[in-house]
Amino acid sequence: MRVVHAEFVISNTDVAKCPRDPFPEYAFIGRSNVGKSSLINTLSGRKSLAKTSGKPGKTQLINHFKINKNWFLVDLPGYGYAKTSKTTKKAFQQLITRYFEQRKQLISAFVLVDIRHEPQTIDLDFMEWLGTNYIPFAIIFTKADKLKPKAINRKVDEYLTKMREGLWEEVPPYFITSSLHKTGVEEVLAYIDQLNTEFHATN
Ligand code: GTP
Ligand code: MG
Repeated sequence: MRVVHAEFVISNTDVAKCPRDPFPEYAFIGRSNVGKSSLINTLSGRKSLAKTSGKPGKTQLINHFKINKNWFLVDLPGYGYAKTSKTTKKAFQQLITRYFEQRKQLISAFVLVDIRHEPQTIDLDFMEWLGTNYIPFAIIFTKADKLKPKAINRKVDEYLTKMREGLWEEVPPYFITSSLHKTGVEEVLAYIDQLNTEFHATN
């Protein structure tokens, strides 16, 4: 799929105020600084559609971006940022939980994890929560430019092994990406395209 049109639509703290269009949407979630906003820019072929920062905690709202005028990419605040206050953390948590529980248009979440890190409890717990709530998701390994190909394969294998040791009999679809080198962009867009087609065939 080629992205020919990408526009920012609205930022929200309230799920009820998110766009009402019956378009399929895909939400990017993961720890702060993992590269959610950067990947949204890379996928949409725009440098600064979503705001990014070297400092964690940049995205604080639910941000809707309309792509090709008929589907949405959604940028969410990161979870697990240690330096925010307890109150802020709780507010983010609530925002994220409500979004996933209430957003009917959501087709799939993309849980982003930094390919360099060991599997983190907060990510595994979040995926487990998605699973318990029947919310489909795929994993996106980010910042692949930071590792050599062999190390990338090893890290991915380790991650999937850890998931299989947990409650996952079947691991979710996954993608290896780098916003810096535009790695994995075609694959993620092709996956979304396929889900969009399935959505339109049944709606
Ligand atoms: P929050 O909004 O704070 O939750 O963070 P985020 O997940 O949206 O991260 P963001 O896209 O703002 O990126 C955080 C930092 O990681 C920035 O300094 C980016 O330049 C950097 N970054 C993002 N993606 C990549 C990547 O693929 N490779 C490298 N090397 N750096 C990246
Ligand atoms: Mg962000």
